[in-house]
Amino acid sequence: MMRFLFCILSTLTLVATVPATAAGAASHVGVKTCTKCHDVHGESWAATAHAKAFESLQSGTKAEVKKKAKLDASKDYTKDKDCLGCHSTGFGQPGGYEIGTAPGGAKALGSVGCESCHGAGGGYRDEHSKAEKKFKKTSEATPRKTLVAAGQNFDYERACATCHLNYEGSPYKHAKRPYTPFTPAVDPKYRFDFNKAMRSKALHEHYKLKGVYAGDPVPSMRAEFQKSAKELPE
Ligand code: HEC
Ligand code: HEC
Ligand code: HEC
Ligand code: HEC
Repeated sequence: MMRFLFCILSTLTLVATVPATAAGAASHVGVKTCTKCHDVHGESWAATAHAKAFESLQSGTKAEVKKKAKLDASKDYTKDKDCLGCHSTGFGQPGGYEIGTAPGGAKALGSVGCESCHGAGGGYRDEHSKAEKKFKKTSEATPRKTLVAAGQNFDYERACATCHLNYEGSPYKHAKRPYTPFTPAVDPKYRFDFNKAMRSKALHEHYKLKGVYAGDPVPSMRAEFQKSAKELPE
């Protein structure tokens, strides 16, 4: 009987996790959905350059660096599809940022938001609350693989590369237009060092996880980050 039940249950989980991958990419839900639960991450993210990336596209901002990269400082780039892919969330993808919408609007997609690094949340955000309920009731952790199947990203090196190493001749093999205008050729300070960047203030602060999820894939720096992570406020 137990085995029979287990069989049905695993078939059900399989069926439940297939749509997110089989029916194409998940939809973007926006920063405000994530911060309903992860408010402390939202607060420290808001202070980062990623949260303000859209402002750099406005006319008159960062005139000196724009000139250096052969951009027109007096031009409004906020509706330019050659810029929005890296200065907003999910541009050109399901549920992503759309030209002309307020950057901090209903879904707040006008920035490099949570989903730029963690993946479009349409498939996995409900998984998080489901897994937490199960954890509280039974102390049982949910396999992290469930999150991957629902579209959550754990390959941070690739996520960073799609924006930071997206220029001709970079070490990133899948670079394609539109490229970033800010390359090491413009200024050596734009050289992207993944290990250094991951440990910089460009990321939000880290908070202790309770262990609602377990198993692979465990991000390579997870243990290091969790060691010095802050306690979540009750
Ligand atoms: C309904 C509440 C809720 C929402 C909405 C939510 N999460 Fe979570 N999330 C959780 C809980 C609970 C955990 C488990 C935390 C733990 O283990 O302490 C979690 C875990 C995580 C983790 C760590 C997973 C791991 O490897 O263990 C990340 C990253 C994360 N959430 C990002 C997001 C992002 C990005 C969004 C928006 C797309 C989001 N969450 C939406 C509640 C939520
Ligand atoms: C969607 C594109 C995108 C992704 C994904 C992305 N970044 Fe960025 N990042 C940017 C943009 C754009 C800026 C510049 C923001 C501005 O000033 O307008 C930036 C700025 C930075 C800076 C400089 C911050 C400062 O204070 O000067 C660092 C460091 C950085 N990112 C690290 C990372 C790391 C690490 C990852 C991956 C975990 C990552 N980024 C993922 C687009 C991205
Ligand atoms: C392929 C991704 C990508 C595209 C496309 C892109 N950017 Fe960026 N942009 C970045 C990244 C990554 C950074 C952060 C560079 C760093 O600090 O190392 C950045 C930084 C900037 C900065 C701040 C530089 C500084 O030193 O403070 C400005 C201004 C900017 N971008 C404007 C633009 C404009 C205007 C366009 C369109 C013409 C554009 N970007 C297109 C990825 C991109
Ligand atoms: C520039 C990339 C980037 C952005 C943007 C980003 N994160 Fe993260 N996040 C990371 C990385 C890298 C880690 C550390 C890897 C890990 O341990 O999972 C992380 C870890 C987490 C965790 C696990 C616990 C912790 O504190 O380390 C949660 C929860 C989380 N992020 C939520 C969010 C939310 C919510 C947002 C938006 C408000 C967000 N993240 C925006 C890259 C990002």
